[in-house]
Amino acid sequence: MTKLKWGMIGGGEGSQIGPAHRLGSGLDGLFEFTAGALDHRPDAGREYGQRLGLAKDRAYGDWREMLAGERAREDRIDLVTVATPNNTHFEITKVFLEAGFHVLCEKPMTMSVEEGEEIVKIAEKTGQICAVNYGYTGYSLVRHMKAMVARGDLGKIRLVKAEFAHGHHADAADADNPRVRWRYDPKQAGVSAQFADCGIHALHMASFVVGQEVEKLSADCVSCIASRELEDDAMVNFRMDGGAVGRLWTSSVAIGRQHGLTLQVFGEKGGLRWAQEQPNQLHYMPLGERLQIIERGEAGLSPEADRSTRVTIGHAEGMPLAFANIYKDLEEAIRARKEGRKMDQAADLYPRAEDGLRSMAAVEAVAHSGKQAGSWVDARPPMFR
Ligand SMILES: NC(=O)c1ccc[n+]([C@@H]2O[C@H](COP(=O)([O-])OP(=O)(O)OC[C@H]3O[C@@H](n4cnc5c(N)ncnc54)[C@H](O)[C@@H]3O)[C@@H](O)[C@H]2O)c1
Repeated sequence: MTKLKWGMIGGGEGSQIGPAHRLGSGLDGLFEFTAGALDHRPDAGREYGQRLGLAKDRAYGDWREMLAGERAREDRIDLVTVATPNNTHFEITKVFLEAGFHVLCEKPMTMSVEEGEEIVKIAEKTGQICAVNYGYTGYSLVRHMKAMVARGDLGKIRLVKAEFAHGHHADAADADNPRVRWRYDPKQAGVSAQFADCGIHALHMASFVVGQEVEKLSADCVSCIASRELEDDAMVNFRMDGGAVGRLWTSSVAIGRQHGLTLQVFGEKGGLRWAQEQPNQLHYMPLGERLQIIERGEAGLSPEADRSTRVTIGHAEGMPLAFANIYKDLEEAIRARKEGRKMDQAADLYPRAEDGLRSMAAVEAVAHSGKQAGSWVDARPPMFR
């Protein structure tokens, strides 16, 4: 079976997220890294692309050149990942969808709800896949949690508790560091800092696992470092459309916390707890019984979990392998289209443009509520109300 052809925009040398995408897309031998416009400096992007093995004529200087070059080819790429800074996602995703490419866009998909709605409509109109990289949903045991909730193991879900709290921007002396400062500047970051950057992963994961969407929320946003205009800590209460009550804490000043993404789900018949820093164990507490530790890779897990695990039990799988599961889903989705068949349902889990839009609506709702002393606001995008 020939590999699908994959291209990347952004993710140049030294970037934070570029390597995880290259590892993730290459891991299962499903995609071949074929084209790229990797850097905002054209020469650096061309040079690095060739060093990574791209042919000279497909190591592009910028994304417009890549669009023109790939569009003109018979053997054009099947999927492009957009891993540039946030304020470029909308434009690049839009034009590649319109030109007939499938896109995996880094989060946030857009900088506003209006742009998000436009992308959803374009994806629908063009029929192209527009996925958004909420890559942590690729973890095998996160998928198992979703399957357990869906098959009723926990009964009706009462509570969801999500966290994404780290301490990497806690040093007040670092507040003027340009690599940190822009994140809290509304001119560069938009209406929200910590919630938009990290909290949103936790909120999306809550929806993914529980199978319910956020309807309304109330947010308490603070800047613990006073020179910051945007929040570095937020507590968000939310309500979901299936009746679940949600609590979310996100922070960048929680000294001693590293990554800090965790999810707890409590239903009428049991509770679950998963943490990104120990992703190979899932804590399951059935009502009235003892705590069980479910291990990634053990026998008897859901098809969704089995499909998204690679190495045998007892060996750690981590974040690039979670990203690889998003790529594995997308490969199946693209190949099913090429072959005119239905895709494997266990693979139909990749986050979509609709998720990117809902996230943007939640970001705007958090910013809005935060400014109004935590008043409850509608968190749904207008097109889904
Ligand atoms: N899903 C996740 O878990 C996750 C984690 C980290 C970052 N991200 C997202 O990934 C994106 C990139 O973040 P990062 O931390 O890697 O940023 P970064 O600043 O480390 O790297 C950005 C890269 O994009 C390149 N670039 C910038 N403008 C470009 C352009 N116009 N054309 C081509 N290349 C361009 C830069 O040269 C650089 O190589 C952001 O949107 C961020 O929110 C997502």
